[in-house]
Amino acid sequence: MYQLKYHLAPPFGLLNDPNGLVQFRGKYHVFFQWNQKGLTHANKSWGHYVSDDMLHWELLPPALEPVDWYDKNGVYSGSAIVKDDVLYLFYTGNVKDENDIRFTYQCLATSTDGVNFKKHGPLFTYPEGYTAHVRDPKVWFDVKSNCYHMVLGAQLANETGDTILYTSNDLIHWEFQGSIFQLEKPFGYMWECPDVVFLKDESNQQKAVFIFSPQGLEPIGYEYHNIHQTAYLIGQYAQQKFEMTATHPIELDRGFEFYAPQTFVTDDGRTVLYAWMGMMEPEKEETMPTIAENWMHHLSVPRELTIKNGKLYQFPINELNALFEHKLFLQVNGDTALQFDQYASKIDLVDIATKDFTLTLANAVTVTFNATQQLMTVTRMNWATQQQESRTCVLENGLQSLRLLVDQSSLEMFINDGEEVFSLRYFASDEKLSLQTNCDATIIYYEYKN
Ligand code: FRU
Repeated sequence: MYQLKYHLAPPFGLLNDPNGLVQFRGKYHVFFQWNQKGLTHANKSWGHYVSDDMLHWELLPPALEPVDWYDKNGVYSGSAIVKDDVLYLFYTGNVKDENDIRFTYQCLATSTDGVNFKKHGPLFTYPEGYTAHVRDPKVWFDVKSNCYHMVLGAQLANETGDTILYTSNDLIHWEFQGSIFQLEKPFGYMWECPDVVFLKDESNQQKAVFIFSPQGLEPIGYEYHNIHQTAYLIGQYAQQKFEMTATHPIELDRGFEFYAPQTFVTDDGRTVLYAWMGMMEPEKEETMPTIAENWMHHLSVPRELTIKNGKLYQFPINELNALFEHKLFLQVNGDTALQFDQYASKIDLVDIATKDFTLTLANAVTVTFNATQQLMTVTRMNWATQQQESRTCVLENGLQSLRLLVDQSSLEMFINDGEEVFSLRYFASDEKLSLQTNCDATIIYYEYKN
């Protein structure tokens, strides 16, 4: 009932981070953190999906299993890169000894066919001055310095978050270069899954975007109300340092479930992001309605990243449009109630008039817009406490359009072509998808083609 139609999810077991995103010999590969043995955060292997078009996916046998001394407690997150027609996977081997003491190894595996992987074991562990919480290698070829760069999420010995850099000429021998960047004040106790993205802005200026998932933040205004979340900063990357031009990190997604994103560059030069839509408090995870169906969590749709007006935009890749069939075009003024045959759909609201309105989806998610304060709020029921909960963001440039990607129990809402995004789960009991709103707008409804 809650199984998704067009998102990547595990056939059974628990999924978390997207890993090793890459296009190798034309095919797209999405690996993911996968517990095949249960619905807890144990036994992490790398699940493996492959596709010709980022729309239709085949599940291949897991690429990496936690069966060696250096990864026996988890083949943790990492990334992929292609060199000389060989696919290189970098990941963190997680090891706990009999006293629960953690060891960390940054490991390599390679493949020549994209199906079978050969593990090469640990390349290095972690540097002095850090705890064993050093993980999630993200590797890219840095054109300016003409060598490979690897960033790792890290925890300094004083238990604050950091990102460290290693460089290499051959992907085998790595040299520690230190921290790439620090904020003025500590920002959480650990930074997971760092990524450095290179994008050109509207005036063709090259920018670097630093994306990271800090843990242990206190809420600041409308931001950081989830247990953990992801933030980004725009700046420059040079001489092995990230220098921010933004004044402070900005939450990358405004919803309830979005964490540990990773990006890759497609052969045609687009930067595409996938995220884990499942980071949540243990109480929520333990009571997820999908437990009855023996699976948990999924990935976001692939989103193309761009920079506009000094902000990072995320919008579903164009290919996804092919999954939907146009069904309805409707101009609405004031109270409107619609019902659709199925949940899986794409709903665009365009030319939205600036006024307060409410939109309710599936009698489960409520979106409200406060036109005076330019506030967008999404409310849903917390299934663990049965209480309503909400997240809010400010729309500095007002509201023009919404794209809702609805998939059974998943919602991604893209505001103003991706200026802001809310990602979340909801669990509705109605058989048909309903939408009520009192906005003035044009609604274009597309049904997912089964
Ligand atoms: C992020 C994370 C990573 C780690 C992986 C383990 O969700 O905690 O830091 O590599 O998940 O599954």
